[in-house]
Amino acid sequence: MEIRPTTDKDLDVFVDTLHAAFGRFPETPAEGGSGVWWSALEMDRCLLAMTADGRPVGTAGAYSFELTLPGEVLVPAAGVTAVGVLPSHRRQGALSAMMRHQLDELRARGEFLSVLLASEALIYRRFGYGPATYTQRLTVPRHQAAFSLPRARGTADAPATGSDTGSVELLRRSECGEILEEVYDRYRRAQPGALSRPHRWWALHAGQPPISPAPRYIAVHRDADGVPDGYASYSIGEPNTLTVDETIATDAAAYTALARFVLGHDLVTQVVFKHVPTEHPLRWQLADFRAGEVSGDTDWLWVRLLDVPRALTARGWFTDGELVLDVDDPFLGEHGRYLLTVRDGKADCVPTDREPDLSLDVSDLGSVYLGGTAPSTLVRAGHIRSHRPGAATLADALFRAERPPHCLHWF
Ligand SMILES: CC(C)(COP(=O)(O)OP(=O)(O)OC[C@H]1O[C@@H](n2cnc3c(N)ncnc32)[C@H](O)[C@@H]1OP(=O)(O)O)[C@@H](O)C(=O)NCCC(=O)NCCS
Repeated sequence: MEIRPTTDKDLDVFVDTLHAAFGRFPETPAEGGSGVWWSALEMDRCLLAMTADGRPVGTAGAYSFELTLPGEVLVPAAGVTAVGVLPSHRRQGALSAMMRHQLDELRARGEFLSVLLASEALIYRRFGYGPATYTQRLTVPRHQAAFSLPRARGTADAPATGSDTGSVELLRRSECGEILEEVYDRYRRAQPGALSRPHRWWALHAGQPPISPAPRYIAVHRDADGVPDGYASYSIGEPNTLTVDETIATDAAAYTALARFVLGHDLVTQVVFKHVPTEHPLRWQLADFRAGEVSGDTDWLWVRLLDVPRALTARGWFTDGELVLDVDDPFLGEHGRYLLTVRDGKADCVPTDREPDLSLDVSDLGSVYLGGTAPSTLVRAGHIRSHRPGAATLADALFRAERPPHCLHWF
């Protein structure tokens, strides 16, 4: 099996091989498909696995994203995508060979983090990835949607949005211009775990709604000065369900106003919020805490560290402390012991031969890195080994982010 990099000329064969791996035919706009996701592929970052007689049997790619780390630190991150191996050639090491080639290539480019969304949770841990952000669906029946705080009265010019002084305007997706892109970009810079959505994605409509041009209503929230600071993209389908693709807001007041807007929609029996973080304020804002039914609780972004000291010193920290981490990276055949010292929001991370406080696999370090998984949970799960009392509690305090990480970008 040979792994070879691709160029723009390989786009058709790459996409064709990938579709065959998933057993699907491409959806065309005429068939109700919306946007062509592969138009954003970066063909100079893709790989094809080829048989000895020159047939393509496997694909893998990467997007150039920026990831927001705790402390509002923006770093480059490779968004691994388009992974597939033909059913006729599975379990012969094609994916392993592509993963190895890709990790080497990312390092050669000077990148120190890669991320992905996993189709199945059993695939990627062996390659050093760990689940790091989580998402769930929140379904609220409209008859139970009363807020615990009363709604302020609105006027025709400034519809009521709660206690905030902004307003909500209803647009069609096609009327939004660059509003969504701008609001999303401001939001993601302050949200740990969020990924950038490069301009070309919006220009090419290369994703899921609301990046794609699929018909959607967009409730745009504007602040008191008329500047857009949030939006909710939604559609209504049977049985009288309003489904919100995503609610993006740069502050809590705008989020609340948008939640009130969709929950106040007439002729709807329930509102489904598709991608909410696990600790979401909306459930607390409703008078009836049980009104919001949680489902579809699952992992979203998986993180892989390619350079432990660089990754640990890049993020922001919120508690001082010192930990010795013994990190095993079996896929790359590497092992390192590091002294992590955090002072005044910054970390130092250097090799050490001191006795370790915690021993962990690089995939578990990926899981705790953004602050969305408590190290003590992984100690209790038997993944991380703690070598002294109090080490897991200190690690919990150290790795916590300013707020739970969340990612809702699909790629
Ligand atoms: C997932 C997929 C790419 C794996 O490719 P592959 O070439 O068969 O993987 P490899 O042969 O390199 O497997 C390496 C190891 O991972 C294991 N593995 C691979 N895919 C697995 C899966 N879906 N579930 C459980 N284990 C899996 C293999 O058993 C093997 O284990 P071993 O080393 O102990 O023998 C392939 O099954 C596929 O294309 N699936 C459909 C598309 C898909 O889900 N893509 C991922 C998108 S995120």
